[in-house]
Amino acid sequence: MELSNNERRMLKSMLSKPEKIWHLDELLTACAWDDQAHVAGAGGSLANSGFITETEQRSKLWRLASEGSAAAENGLLEQRIWDWLSVQEKDSGMKDLQDSGVVGKKEAGAGVGLIKDLGIQLIAGKFVIPNVTEAITATLEIRERFISELSNSGGIGVPENDLDANLVDYFNRRKGIIVSSEDVVRTWQLTEKGRSVSDSELVEKLVIAEITPELLQGEEWRNADFKPYDVARDAPVLTAGKSHPMQALIERIRSIFLEMGFTEIEGDYVTTAGWNMDALFIPQDHPAREMQDTFYLDNPESVPLPSEYIRQWSEVHEHGGDTGSTGWGGEFSAEISQMGMLRTHTTVNTIRHLADNPSEPCRVFGIGRVFRKESIDRTHLPEFHQIEGIIMEPNASLPMLVTTLKEFYKKMGYPEVRVRPAYFPYTEPSMEVEVKWRGQWLELGGAGIFRPEVTEPLGLKWPVCAWGMGLERLAMLVLGLDDIRQLYISDLEWLSNQPML
Ligand code: PHE
Repeated sequence: MELSNNERRMLKSMLSKPEKIWHLDELLTACAWDDQAHVAGAGGSLANSGFITETEQRSKLWRLASEGSAAAENGLLEQRIWDWLSVQEKDSGMKDLQDSGVVGKKEAGAGVGLIKDLGIQLIAGKFVIPNVTEAITATLEIRERFISELSNSGGIGVPENDLDANLVDYFNRRKGIIVSSEDVVRTWQLTEKGRSVSDSELVEKLVIAEITPELLQGEEWRNADFKPYDVARDAPVLTAGKSHPMQALIERIRSIFLEMGFTEIEGDYVTTAGWNMDALFIPQDHPAREMQDTFYLDNPESVPLPSEYIRQWSEVHEHGGDTGSTGWGGEFSAEISQMGMLRTHTTVNTIRHLADNPSEPCRVFGIGRVFRKESIDRTHLPEFHQIEGIIMEPNASLPMLVTTLKEFYKKMGYPEVRVRPAYFPYTEPSMEVEVKWRGQWLELGGAGIFRPEVTEPLGLKWPVCAWGMGLERLAMLVLGLDDIRQLYISDLEWLSNQPML
C-alpha cells in the first residue's frame, strides 16, 4: 500500500525517536503541522495498517465552577468569616456578622453552618471560639490551597489523580465550587513494523491534482504521484442560461425544414375572415366561424379586401365558379369576409403566400402562434403554435406529402408515423397525421391536397400538398409532459432541469 505524504512525514518524525510515546503537541511540532486533523488522519491510517499503535487515555479533570472562581478571588466563605471573627471583641454574635458586610445576606446561613463544622459554636446568638485554633487554620489553609491550585490551572482543569481525593469529594458536595469534565489523551508509538520502514519509502512526493501545460514542460511530474479521480463523487449541478424549451424546439424544427429544402415564411396575427376562412372554402355558416371559436376584433373591426378576391370567393362559395364544384350555395357576404380577427390557424400564411406567388413552385414552412377561444385545461390553450407547410410543384402528390411528414417526424426522433382519413373543407383527400409514442398513436396534425375550390380562384396551376401540426402537442411528447400548461408557467426549477433540445 502506498503511503500518503502525511503518513510519510509522521512516520519519519517518529523514527527520530523510535521508542518514544508521542503526544499530540510533540507530533505537531515534529511534523511542522498546525492542524491536529493531520495527526488524527495520518495517525488513524498508520495505526490501521499496523505501523503505529494509537492509545487513548481518558481522565477526569476538575476545575472551578462559578462559586469556586468567586472564592479564588475573595476567599472561601468560611475563611472570610474566620478572618472577621479573629479581629472581633468578645461576645460578637450573628447580628454583628450580618451588620459587618463581610457576608452577603444569602450567605449568612450557609456561612454559619460552615464555621460550626470547623468547631466554632453559636451559643445564645454569640460565637464561641475554641481555645485551640491551629486545627481550624490548618484546614482553611488546605482548602484555600486546593482552590488556588484549580484557579491556577487556567480553566483547563487538574487531573483527578493529581488532587486530594477527600478534598475533591468535600468540594464536590458543596454547591457550585467545582465541576469535572472528561479529557481524552491520545498517544502514538511506533510498532516493530513502523520501526523497520526504510527511509526511501518516506520521501514525500509531489502530488499532482491538475495537469497543466506548464507542468508537462518540466520534469517534476515524472516522479510525482497523481491524485486519483474520484468518479463517484457528487458534482455540483450546473444551471447555465439556455433557451426556453419551446424556443429550443422551434429552432430544431426550423433547422429540420431548412435542411429538407424548405423556405421559412411569416405572417401577421391579425387577419380577416376572408383569408383565414373564405379563401380556404370554409363555408360562411361553418360552426368554427362562430363567436365561441374565433376572436373577432373591435379594432380593426373590418379590413377592406381587394374586390377581385371577394368576387372569386363569392363565386366559388355560391356555385363553385369554374371549378366544376357546386359550391356551398346560399349568399356569400363580403362583409363577413372583411371582418378583422386573430388567425385561428397558420394555413392563412401559406394560402397568402400562394396568392402572392401563384406561378412559382415552392416548398415553404412557418411556425407561428394562433388563437382560439378555448378554455384552458390539460390539453388546451387559447394561444398555441402551429407548424405549417406546403409543397406546390408539378408532381406534388399525396405520397410526396406523406413521405415529407414521415421524414420530418423521423428527424425529430419519431420514426413511427401513420395517416388516417379525415375531413377539412379545404383539402381533398384529407388526413390526420399520427405519431407513435410510448405504444400509443397520438394525433399531431392535419394534412391534405388543397381542393380546386381553394387553388383555382388564386390561379394556381399545380397541386399543393399542405399540412398544419400542433407545436405544443409535439413539445409534450419531446419533454414527456402530461399537462400542456407546464410549458408556459415559467417554473424556474422545471426550466433549469430541462434537457438541451
Ligand atoms: N389548418 C388545420 C388545423 O388547424 C391543419 C391543416 C393544414 C389541415 C393544412 C390540412 C391542410 O388543424
